[in-house]
Amino acid sequence: MDKLKITGGQPLSGTIPISGAKNSALKLMAAALLTPEPVTLKNTPNLADTRFLSQLLDTLGVEVYWPKGESTCHLNAAELKSTIAPYEQVRKMRASFNVLGPLLARYGHATVSLPGGCAIGARPVDLHLKAFEAMGADLLVEEGYVKAAAIHGLKGAQIVFPMVSVGATEHAMLAATLADGETVLENAAREPEIADLADCLNAMGAKVSGAGTSTITIQGVKQLHGTTHDVMADRIEAGTYAMAVAAAGGDVTLTNAPVAAMSSINHALRNAGVQVDADVEKGTIRIQRNGGKLNPVNIDTAPHPGFPTDLQAQFMALMSLANGTSVIRENIFENRFMHAPELSRLGANITVRAHEAIVTGVDALRGAPVMATDLRASVSLVIAALAAQGETDVSRIYHLDRGFERLEEKLTNVGANVRRVSEEEE
Ligand code: EPZ
Repeated sequence: MDKLKITGGQPLSGTIPISGAKNSALKLMAAALLTPEPVTLKNTPNLADTRFLSQLLDTLGVEVYWPKGESTCHLNAAELKSTIAPYEQVRKMRASFNVLGPLLARYGHATVSLPGGCAIGARPVDLHLKAFEAMGADLLVEEGYVKAAAIHGLKGAQIVFPMVSVGATEHAMLAATLADGETVLENAAREPEIADLADCLNAMGAKVSGAGTSTITIQGVKQLHGTTHDVMADRIEAGTYAMAVAAAGGDVTLTNAPVAAMSSINHALRNAGVQVDADVEKGTIRIQRNGGKLNPVNIDTAPHPGFPTDLQAQFMALMSLANGTSVIRENIFENRFMHAPELSRLGANITVRAHEAIVTGVDALRGAPVMATDLRASVSLVIAALAAQGETDVSRIYHLDRGFERLEEKLTNVGANVRRVSEEEE
């Protein structure tokens, strides 16, 4: 198993290009199932998760042409050989569950394994299933699988989500594109990735309006056609590097950044005393912090446009160096503080009480061996290690490979001392 060896304490300087958004790419790839024509996705991030979904699509019979290391992914679902997504492939990555809606919409039936819980929480899919039922699907949950059928096709429906869910909004939107009639999604999630998905679906001939607001209307069409779409840039990756620079100090410009989608993130950084110069037109964000203490900032994670849960761990790493105490409240997932004890191993002073972490800033962090537990938790340890004095070993970094493209290369290019080593090299 690989680990990262990070020697901290160096300020970072230079440029970091931001990759395509994992959480957009995964839904866009599933959208390719809706049409028999080719869908080409540019700016697709090369990640364990996106590669993994491409394998599932291949299992279903989608022709996937995506040479290693390239960012253009060609998908052609002209003829599928199966509408069954097996446990082995859904268990490893929850987003695989997103193939259910498109398969059901285009073929009238699908059998997809339930994804199960994960390290950050139970993460049920009841809202997804209720949406399909509202659209007239018959669902049977049996032996860990959802068996779905809509023999006469899905019907448009009025769906009011009882809570905001990114996944359920996207999944219902995908399925509704081919339903008979109008579907209205109320209390829909407003994440920028949802607007990106709607843009791609509309380019395929769908009629989706209101994406990015809490009411999305979809007029079903008979069929969709192929398209070429640019995956939006990753706001979580951009926010992560911004926090790394804020923690380690330095002057770094993020390029190809989704500036308009990052208001709450930039706001929190500015409150912490970090200089953030964002240029929407150019898609750049310059982050500067040269010495000077960080201010403590309280945050509450919330659906977009609130502060994203996917940056909570990274912000906690930053706040562990602030001049005072901050309160970080996690409102989306019930078990998303696993990084707290690991950050404490580096000298952070964090007390977790139910959904709150109380972080009292320390003057300096010190390198230590730590263990990654999930994707965003892992990268928070990388941020802390970059700011810490001495050497930190981060083990179990396969979590990082799920969501950060060329992480060591990007960090090394701005002067960080980060090396990937295998246990055997030790
Ligand atoms: C997406 O997960 C992202 N994943 C997550 O990113 C992100 O943290 C999350 O949205 C919130 O922004 C992908 O896009 C692949 P939700 P999703 O449905 O769609 C509950 C990362 O690190 N809920 O908005 O699964 C759920 O348990 C990942 O990249 C139900 O109760 O999130 C949670 O508490 C982690 N029933 C809340 O809603 C349902 O049917 C919000 O979850 C669905 C969700």
